[in-house]
This record gives sequence, C-alpha cells and structure tokens, in this order.
Amino acid sequence: MTETLPRAGAGDPVVGRPIDRVDGPAKTTGAAVYSAEVAYPDLAYATLVPATISRGRITSIDTAAATAVRGVITVLTHENAPELKPPQPFNPFNFATFAAGTQVNYLKTDEIFWDGQPVALVVAETLEAAHEAAALVRVAYEERPSAVDFAAEEGNAQPQKANMVLPSGAKKGDAEAAFAASPVKVDLRFTTPPHNHNAIEPHATTAVWDGNRLTVHDSTQSIDWLRTHLALRFDVQPANVRVVSTYVGGGFGGKSVVWAGTILTALAARAIDRPVRMMLTREAVYHTVGARGAATQRVALGAGEDGRLTSLIHTTVARTSRVGGLPETLTSPSRHLYATPTMLLQQHLVEMDLIPPSPMRTPSEGIGSFALESAIDELAYQVGMDPIRFRMLNEPATNPVDGKAFSRRWLPEAYALGAEQFGWSERTPEPGSMRDGRWLVGMGVATAFHPAQQMAANVTVRLSVDGSVVVRCAFQEIGVGAATVQAQIAADALGVPFENVRVEYGDSDLPSSAAAIGSVQTATVANSLLEGCEKLKKRLRSLARRHGTTGQSHGETLARAGLPSLEVAIGSDTRVGKVTGQVKFFTRFLREQRRWMKAAYGAHFCEVRIDQDTGEVRVARWTGVFDFGRVINTKTATSQLRGGIIAGIGMALGEETLVDPRNGRIMNPSLAEYHLPVQADIPQIEVMCLDEPDPTMPLGLTGIGEVGPTGVAAAIANAVHHATGKRIRDLPLTLDKLL
Ligand code: MOS
Repeated sequence: MTETLPRAGAGDPVVGRPIDRVDGPAKTTGAAVYSAEVAYPDLAYATLVPATISRGRITSIDTAAATAVRGVITVLTHENAPELKPPQPFNPFNFATFAAGTQVNYLKTDEIFWDGQPVALVVAETLEAAHEAAALVRVAYEERPSAVDFAAEEGNAQPQKANMVLPSGAKKGDAEAAFAASPVKVDLRFTTPPHNHNAIEPHATTAVWDGNRLTVHDSTQSIDWLRTHLALRFDVQPANVRVVSTYVGGGFGGKSVVWAGTILTALAARAIDRPVRMMLTREAVYHTVGARGAATQRVALGAGEDGRLTSLIHTTVARTSRVGGLPETLTSPSRHLYATPTMLLQQHLVEMDLIPPSPMRTPSEGIGSFALESAIDELAYQVGMDPIRFRMLNEPATNPVDGKAFSRRWLPEAYALGAEQFGWSERTPEPGSMRDGRWLVGMGVATAFHPAQQMAANVTVRLSVDGSVVVRCAFQEIGVGAATVQAQIAADALGVPFENVRVEYGDSDLPSSAAAIGSVQTATVANSLLEGCEKLKKRLRSLARRHGTTGQSHGETLARAGLPSLEVAIGSDTRVGKVTGQVKFFTRFLREQRRWMKAAYGAHFCEVRIDQDTGEVRVARWTGVFDFGRVINTKTATSQLRGGIIAGIGMALGEETLVDPRNGRIMNPSLAEYHLPVQADIPQIEVMCLDEPDPTMPLGLTGIGEVGPTGVAAAIANAVHHATGKRIRDLPLTLDKLL
C-alpha cells in the first residue's frame, strides 16, 4: 500500500491515511516510561525462585543463606507469605475469570505443578542482591511421576469440552464415508512444537500499596481484567486497585492474562510495605508465563476428479495442564474456509505437568492453518491443479460449517491481486523445476484467516471551546498504534483536525475498555467512540439551534452557550453500569453470531530459495494481500501485518521450545537458543490491503491484529515442496529435514 499520499490539509479526512503514531516521538527519544522504569522513592527489587521438579511437594525450604545476603529485605515462601486468595475457576459468563493464567495460589501451597513454578520470592535493596540471594535458596522436594513428554502422552488425550465462546468440533454428513469413496485424497499428519513468548519488553511490574489501595504499573494487554483479578486475589474492592500501563513493549498474547510475576510483586509490596519492582528475566518468562503447547493434527481431504472437495476431516490433539489454561480451537480454519458437503472436526486435549498454555500470536488459527493450508496444497497437486485455482474452485458461497452469510469476503480478489503483484504466472508448477545457480527456487501460497469479534468498551468524549477534543478510554497500547487510530476516527467523526485530538489511555482510572486480545480492541473502542461522537454532535446541534450558531464551528457554539467544554459518556463503570454493559454486549454478540460470519482474510505469496547442498531455507520474497474491512491507518496497519508475517516466518523456520522429556524442564529459555528470526532472515515484505468496508460494522472496520501470521508457515512449506519435491509436515522446517 502506498505511503506517499499527499499530506492532509486542515479539515481533510484522516481515516485511511498513513499518520505517524502519536507515541512515536516518546518511544524513539526514550521519553516513554515503561512499567519497570517508573520512579518511586524507597523502591525494592524482587526476583523469583523456580521449582526444579515438575510434580510433587516441597518437603523443606531453607532461606537462611539467602536472607543473610547483604541488602536482602525478605525471602517469602509458602511458610511466611502474606494472605492471598485463590483464583476463581474459569466461567464463560465472567470474562474476568479468563484473567487467571493458572489456578495455582502462589506461595500459599507446597504443591508443585510444573518445573519453573515460583517457590520463593526474594526482595532486596538492589536487583543484584535479589538475584544473588535467589540462587542460595535451598528447596527439598518429594517428587511424583509426571506427564511431561507430549509424544508419550498424546494417546491419553480426551475430547475437548466446548463452551459458548469456543466450539470443540463440528459434523456435517458422513465425512469418513465420503472420504473413503473419494477418487482423489490425502490423509496427513502434522506436528508443531511448543513455542514461547519473547516480547521485547519482558513482563514487568512496579507495585505500591497505600493502606488498602494498590497501584500497579504493569505491562498488560488487559487493564480491566488485571484490576479485577488483583482485587479478587488481595481481597480489596476493584475501585481500590489502579492499573497503569501506558507503554507496553509487545504483547502477542503473553500479557493477556495474569501470571505469577504481577501477583507476587504486589504480594511483596504488601509484605514489606514499600514499592517493589520486578522485571522477569528472559528465563523467568519461560518459567512463569504460559505459551503455546505442542500439537498434532490430522487433515484428511477427499475430492472428485473435477477437484471439488467431497470430504474435510480435521482432528487435533493439543495439551493443557492440571492447573488451567485456555484451550485452542485448532480446527477453526476448517470450519470456514472451503465449501464441502461433508465435514468432521474434532479436538482433543491431554493434561500435562507443564505450565498452562496461554494465547500466543493467533491462538487456534496460528497452527491450525499450517495443517489445513498445507493439506489443501497437497490435494491440489493430487488433483493436478494450480493451488490458487483449486482454492477458487472450492470457495464457499456461505459459511461452510453452518451456512451463515459472510458479512464480506474478498478472498478471491486478494488472490487475484496478489498473483498479479507477485508474478505467480511465472511459476512453473513442476516441483524442482525452478533454479537459480545453486539455489532451488520455490513459490507457495496459503490463505490467512482470523474470525472478527468485538467486546465492550466505555469511553468519554470531551470537546472544549478552543476546539480541542479529549477521548478517554482505558485501552492498551501494546505497540500497534491503537491511540493513533482512535484519534483519527474521532477527528473525522467530529470534523476537527487530527492535531486537535488527544487520546488518554492505559490507566484504569479511565472508562474501562476491552482487552487488547483476539484482534478486538480497535473495532470495539471505535464502536463506542463513534457512538460518543454522534451523541456529542447531537447535543452540539441542539445547542446551536438554541443559540443561533447553526453552521458555525463547535467552538463558536460552546462560546455562545457559555460552556468551557461539553462531555458525553458511553457506558459506565458503576456496578450496575458494568452489568448492563455485559448484558448489552452478550445480546449483541449472540445476535451477531447468529447472523453473520465475520472475519479477516488474506492471501500469502512467498518465494523460498534452498541451498542445494546444505538445505538452508531462505525466504526471498513475500506478498500478502489482506481483506479486513476499512483501513484506518495504512502505516500502522501494514506495519502490524508485516510483523505478523515475520512471526509466522519464525514459527515456520526456527522457533521451537525444547522440553526435556525426562523432567519437563525447558532446555532453551533464552534468545540465544530459541531461534527467533533476525533482520537478516527477513526479506522485503509487501503488504497490500483491499480496504473494502465491512457493511455490518460501524465505519466498516473489523480487526487486523492476528490475521497476519496465519497461513505463513503453510505458504513456506508449500514453497519448499515446490522447490524440492519434499513435503515437510513437522515444524520447524529446519535444514536437517531437507537433507
Ligand atoms: Mo492475542 S494471541 O488474543 O493476545
């Protein structure tokens, strides 16, 4: 998408323009203060001591040597930690219960559920003293046999339970019989390893108690859930908890729920009655923050000689833990992407003695799409058809799983534009048929897909007599340009220059917002913001009629009315207001769910080059064309999608958490040994957005957060097959698998 539009003049609409992010200067000059940088006098530093067994009990814990280290203030264990309430089990009617990362009541139990679970907390005058002392805590355990090896446990998986947000499977016709009778078919098994969160800012908390009031500065994706959760655990009113989260150095799902670090920092601050800070070490992120578990998937597809699908079977096994964890819906892409007369989707879970899994970079579709989109490519080759033509032939008219109407679906247009831009017609379909010197060249495609949802947000909008506008909403800016796009939306809705709008966010003292998860935040906040702007304009119009200023500026109207400013509110954070909001939200959610299939789509095109001797895979070129409704900001949107594609390249080629199958210990908890892509691994990535408004959404926008990474690993695996003739169905796609 072009980023060279002429600069907007005063009063020109700004929605759709590549506006620089409003927080850019603060971030690039270092003026931005992150959660581990907030200054407090008398600040103490905390660090965690991890368990070294995966299941059992603590029999004794010796903190004498640790306590003797100079500068140590206290060492907290299950024997002396202050009161902490247990978390509430998951309840789909109360989103705040999503907020519990685990069901473990840290430092209030001697039971161990995974290797790395915090067993002690050291608080000291300096970070160095805290780390030194932590290494001196001696813990003895009584170990029990544990289930930590996914390959060995896979057979013990049980059918995944459905709930009102996450379906567990689907059945349409007799898919097994249709598969058996199909003249062309593939029946494939895919495996994906565990992956870990590695945001550039490790999870960080600064916690301060003032009597019974708690303030936490925390790198969170959900201010509201965190506040509710801390109130529950520390037995205070939510109004007594303030969460401040102005800048967050990346979320990716790892900061969506509440993990041990945040809770224990607040506990430490209460124990010593001083401000306490904890920034997790990279290793502690692996120990205490859940991420993506290993999975295996079977995709069996049948087609007629004409290439039309006759059967789609997708069954999966993923893992959970004995202490909670949000299960993924791995078959999600198979519910929606292809027209098929029969369908069988089943998900299974196996309980393991590992940290509970957590959302990560597109839960469900992230790895679900690897299996489906690889299998579709294989079937296209079996049929003898170009993989794009094959997809277009099987493009559904309505949502395959339930026949609902699509709110909008421009996937064929995305493929057509991408093919032209990428030069797909230059590809010769025969595997191994394209070379460039010692490089085997391959081109692959795959579909990107993520369902679109909205949640509830409260906002206020205030217009002042000088024409300035303040939007207040406690949403989270995790690095994507969230405040910038809301300012653009408000500017256009009120007809004021972009520079006049200030957006206040990232603080629970503001009206509460949805979490920055599930690609919901921007559309959710925009929905309330637009409602607020309409309400404000209506009040301004009636003021103008009363004071004879119709046709003049908003400022004139306020001046004539003798008002310094005018503010409207959407939603309310009173107890009743919150319940009303929840009911309103669920009513709307269920109505929308019944009526429309709403999603973001995309077509990925990639070129890989593979060294003929070493098997090294380089991604040489990328084009992604996306359909997610209206584009608010071409710069932040393309940047976010590009980041998503890079995350997908990481998952495809390098990322793998290595778990010791004997004891459940993560063996590579560092950026040195967990292979994220680096600059040299990333080619030119061209991102294009169709910018077709969704007719069912205010302003036509849905969500873009998570569609980017979906399908990326499949596009690469399909390109690798095209280059080499080899099908790799086990990630990561490392060179040893190609030799
Ligand atoms: Mo996202 S992985 O729902 O934060």
